[in-house]
Parts: sequence; C-alpha cells; structure tokens
Amino acid sequence: MSLQSLVPGPEPKVTSRVSTGAEGRCRVALAGFGTVGRSAARLLQDAAREVELVAILNRDVDRKRVDWVDGAVRWTDSIEEVLDRPIDVFIELIGGRSPAEDWIRRALARGISVVTANKQVIARDGASLLDAAAANDCHLRFEAAVAGGVPVIRAIESGLAGDRLTRVAGILNGTCNYILTKMEREGTAFADALREAQALGYAEANPSQDIDGFDAQAKLAILAMVALGIQAPPDAIATRSIATVDGVDFRYARRLGCTIRQIAWAERNGDLELCAGVGPTLVPLESPLAAVNGSENLVSIQGRFGGETTFGGRGAGGDPTAVAVLSDVLTIARGARPAVRPRAERSARVSSDAATPYYVRFTVVDRPGIIAALASVFAKYEINIDAILQEPGFPASQRPFIVSLDAAPSAAVNAALAEIGAFDFHLVPMLAMPVLDGRAPAEVTA
Ligand SMILES: NC(=O)c1ccc[n+]([C@@H]2O[C@H](COP(=O)([O-])OP(=O)(O)OC[C@H]3O[C@@H](n4cnc5c(N)ncnc54)[C@H](OP(=O)(O)O)[C@@H]3O)[C@@H](O)[C@H]2O)c1
Repeated sequence: MSLQSLVPGPEPKVTSRVSTGAEGRCRVALAGFGTVGRSAARLLQDAAREVELVAILNRDVDRKRVDWVDGAVRWTDSIEEVLDRPIDVFIELIGGRSPAEDWIRRALARGISVVTANKQVIARDGASLLDAAAANDCHLRFEAAVAGGVPVIRAIESGLAGDRLTRVAGILNGTCNYILTKMEREGTAFADALREAQALGYAEANPSQDIDGFDAQAKLAILAMVALGIQAPPDAIATRSIATVDGVDFRYARRLGCTIRQIAWAERNGDLELCAGVGPTLVPLESPLAAVNGSENLVSIQGRFGGETTFGGRGAGGDPTAVAVLSDVLTIARGARPAVRPRAERSARVSSDAATPYYVRFTVVDRPGIIAALASVFAKYEINIDAILQEPGFPASQRPFIVSLDAAPSAAVNAALAEIGAFDFHLVPMLAMPVLDGRAPAEVTA
C-alpha cells in the first residue's frame, strides 16, 4: 500500500513529488497504450537514466502486454491503482474528453504532474486544469496536443515569453495538408486524395474532424489560450471544410500567384476580442505556408516587438508526438518550476471579422447578364472586383470562372454572397476563400 492511500480524503495531495523514485528518477505512469502510448513507452524506457516507467494503464490491458516493456512495470486497467502509486508524473494518452479530463483532474488534485497529448480536453478545459495544477504546485504540460512534434508551446512559454504576441497562424492539420498538396502537385481529385490519406493512416475512417476543420479548431483554441491569453470555446471559432475545394481552384489560385492550404489563424483585438477561423485559404506561393508539404505542420507567431517567428515539422505520428510527450516529462524530471502564466481571459468575444481579399468561384448556366448581376451586388456592398478569370478547356455547359475581390470586410462579403447565392443561375454552389495577404484571413460562409 502506498503512503497516499493511507491519507484520508477524496484526493490526497502530496507535495514535492519529483525525483523521489529509485536513484532519484522521476516516476511515471502512462495511460493509453495506443499509437502514441506505445512510442512514448519506448522513449521512456530509453530515458531510463532520468525516468522510471512504473505503470501502464489500458482497458482490457492483458491484450496490450508486450515483451519489450521492462518486467517491473505494472500493467493495469484501474486508474485508482495508478493514482494510488507513488508517481511523479501521470501521462494521459487515451484521447477523448471522458474519462481523460476526470483522470487529469484527479491526478492534479493529488499534486501529481500531468503530461497529455489531448487537444479536446485542453482546448475545452485547459484554463481550469491549469488553475488546478497551479493550486497544487504541479505541472500540466501539453506540448503534444498542438502540432505533434513541433515544440511550439514551449517556444511560446519560454523563447517568446519576452514579447507581446498578437497573432498565431498556421497549418495545424497534417491530413488536410497531405490532401491539398496531393491535389496541387499531382492533380489528384479530393475524394482520391482523401482515400490515399486514409490508406496511409493519416485520416480516420470518419475524416470530418480533419477535413471540416474541427481538429485544427481545437488546436487553435489552445494556441490562442497560450499565445494570446484568451480562452475561447473551440466551437466559437468558425470553420469551413476543405471538401469543396476542387482541382480547378488550384489552377485559378496559381493564376493569382497562390496555392491553397487549410489555414488556422487567431488574432487578438484589444483585450476583449479574439478574431479567429479555420478553413481553406489562398496562400501566396512565396509564403512559407505554401512550401509546407504532405503531413507537415507549420506555426507562425507574430509578436509586437520580435515580428514573425515560424516553427515547422512533423505534426503527428506516434514517434514525433511521443518526443513531445517525453520532452515534457524531462522538463518536469529536471526540476523546472511549473510555468507561470497570465490568467487566460475567458469572457472575450470571438469573431471572424477582418478585411481581406477574397477568391470566389462560380459555375453558372450559359446565359448573358450574369457578370453584370454579380457586379451590381458587389457594388451595392462597396466591394471592388479585382479580376474575373476564366480558364479555357471546360464544356460550355459547365464552365467555372472566378472573381477575385479587393480586401473587404468579411461581413460585407458574406452579405453579398448570401444575396448572390439566391440567384437561379448557379449550377454548382459558389466557393469563397479568403486570400492571405500578410494579415489574418477573414472567414466567409459560402
Ligand atoms: N496519433 C497521433 O499522431 C497523435 C498526434 C498528436 C496527438 N495525439 C493525441 O494523442 C492521444 C492518443 O492518440 P493515439 O493516436 O495514440 O490514440 P489510440 O491509438 O486510439 O490509443 C489510445 C489508447 O488508449 C486506450 N483507451 C482509450 N480509452 C480508454 C479508456 N477509457 N480506458 C483505458 N484505456 C483507454 C485505447 O485502448 P483500445 O486499444 O481498447 O482502443 C488505446 O490503446 C489523443 O489525445 C490524440 O489526440 C495523437
């Protein structure tokens, strides 16, 4: 029986937990022996000079046992047994909100530091869990929850701590980036690129979390909390799907000197507004975002004093994500003090209002007067048309063309597109995308 289980009360708190195991090593329990958990267990064993893996938890644990894990490690399916052991760090890698959030809270309440890769939990409950960690003088670290192996959280916490950060933008979902670069470079249709991503294990059988933007939305909410000090409910961040992007959009984007990427961006407007969104966006070919290939991630952070700093690398996969997990464990094992963060503002308004240029693709019936009708609606909302382009080689019955718009407020563009969408000449629903012009792209609903 451990000392902790002798202490009365619901969640006995133990202070000064780190480095009290055998030979002063940090004692770690790991929950979730899946893709990331298995990689993390291997790396933890490799770090045996500093870290002692004492327990592995998984449901129906017997089917999970492997012979390469040290014989002294306890395999269990009981969270009570794990938290009752004298451990310094609890690693949560089961995913999903429940029971993960409860387990993290219970560990923190006992003064056990937590390392997690769980974006869903941190995006929704991160601020209150950080409060719990601070109240119990322990760590809550979640580098792996955003951009996998790219150490962006730690860069914000330490390397950029001296700046006043104003904007984060980037490619946070490797599956979408894989699909869009496949469409761009090989002319693959969206459905085929998605099937390939699934076959390679990048995309889930139900890919909505990735392609509809919800995965990036949760990661962006975490970045907004850490970098911009605003805690926004992830669902308040507008998302658009990449599923409506077509091969022809890459042809037109290139004529405008751009390509297409799923971009997540968030910007702080004063103290009480977060301007944020996720969706397919035209990106200038010379931007570092255009050079991000396959399943890689890239995060760019804008500071008031230091300007733009960019971080890139492997955003997912068992090994890269496990590196982020072990790095968080080692930070704790090496005796760092828990990060002191300014309290994230919870009552901020979340909007997607910004003024940017737009790309709008139309596929309409073949009849005169359509351009005049579009122009009059855009003029009514004081939106200037920059160019109208039509590529050759399409049948007259279904000939897509695009209209590029000068920078305009997203509210005006949305209102104009709602009016245009009601016309009877559309053969295919319009597709509107913001164009990244050095500022954050605004969100459009069409
Ligand atoms: N995979 C990546 O590339 C990646 C990248 C960044 C972050 N992450 C995050 O890392 C976490 C783990 O992801 P993963 O890809 O490793 O998932 P995974 O392969 O599905 O592994 C999860 C493991 O946890 C176990 N588990 C799930 N619910 C449980 C419960 N209630 N009680 C006990 N065990 C439970 C599962 O057991 P079963 O075998 O019974 O299902 C499985 O072994 C998630 O939060 C994910 O978002 C993953």
